[in-house]
Amino acid sequence: MKVGVLTGGGDCPGLNAALRGVVYRAHQHGDETVGFLDGWKGVRDGEYRPLALAELVEAAGRGGTILGSSRTNPFQAPDGIARVGRSLRAAGVDALVAVGGDDTLSAALELSKHGGKVVGVPKTMDNDVNGTDWTFGFDSAASVAMDAVERLRDTARSHHRVVVLEVMGRHAGWVALATGLAAAADFTVLPEEPYDEGRLVRHVRAALAARGYAVVVASEGAAVVPTKGSAGGRDDFQHEILRERGVGAFLARQLEAATGVEARSAQIGHIQRGGAPTLFDRLLSLRLGAKAADLAHDGQFGQVAVLRGAEVVGIPLADAVASPKVVPPAWLDLLHTFDA
Ligand code: F6P
Repeated sequence: MKVGVLTGGGDCPGLNAALRGVVYRAHQHGDETVGFLDGWKGVRDGEYRPLALAELVEAAGRGGTILGSSRTNPFQAPDGIARVGRSLRAAGVDALVAVGGDDTLSAALELSKHGGKVVGVPKTMDNDVNGTDWTFGFDSAASVAMDAVERLRDTARSHHRVVVLEVMGRHAGWVALATGLAAAADFTVLPEEPYDEGRLVRHVRAALAARGYAVVVASEGAAVVPTKGSAGGRDDFQHEILRERGVGAFLARQLEAATGVEARSAQIGHIQRGGAPTLFDRLLSLRLGAKAADLAHDGQFGQVAVLRGAEVVGIPLADAVASPKVVPPAWLDLLHTFDA
């Protein structure tokens, strides 16, 4: 059997380890693997190359993806399905493994509905894919953000300032939540909660009174600034590009005005998405990649490999893309335990 694999959407640490999982397990089954370049774009345009075991040994510990990625939606054009079908047939591919977040997996579901033999692997630093306890990329990205808060804390303490770190995560607050909790931020602003300026200011004033400086973490998707519609642009999947919203800078200005204390903001942006995957992300990626190769080999198409508790299992793609997974109330309760 010939298995094609693609990595789509925003890159994150762990993608190369997932490829290692797919390719090695496929090899164990006696299956051949080829990699499509730049996500669904490579499938649409028939751009692919063989994947050798040897290259994956060194790549597995590196960030990014050796196959490249894009946010291309192959089904945007009316002839998308036909074009993808032709391209897969021309490549002689019997099964496709799509590694990606909700957009990439939605495209996989679309292909599956049209008879395509496809399985999925969830990845995203946002951790917002349904049906899986965690996505790889998240632990690595949040660990980088945690380190950034600790660095910002040093400079905030020295200058007796308020510092706001804006992290990514789109419309799910997992990265901000984990960063704020792990780095003991004085307040964390999430998309899952209505923005309460009075509450934020109270917590920052209390931190200033206690320690002479304050640290705030804010998610880029928090409902802090009025939405600009498509002013920041939209991608192929019609998602608003959030970097232009400037949530962190907006909060720093508000806090400086409210407290009279100098405030600064930093936007960590894509720094979170690069670098080596953590141990947790490497192991999760390898396991999910290997499971996807099993699903493909066994003809269990339309499934996605996910983490459920300690086990890696297959669930229907439709369940994974039904709606984004946002931070539930139990995690919000834990976060607010530390609002002193
Ligand atoms: O989905 C991953 C993510 O990093 C989001 O957190 C962020 O909003 C978006 O991608 C940024 O996308 P791009 O890399 O296209 O700027």
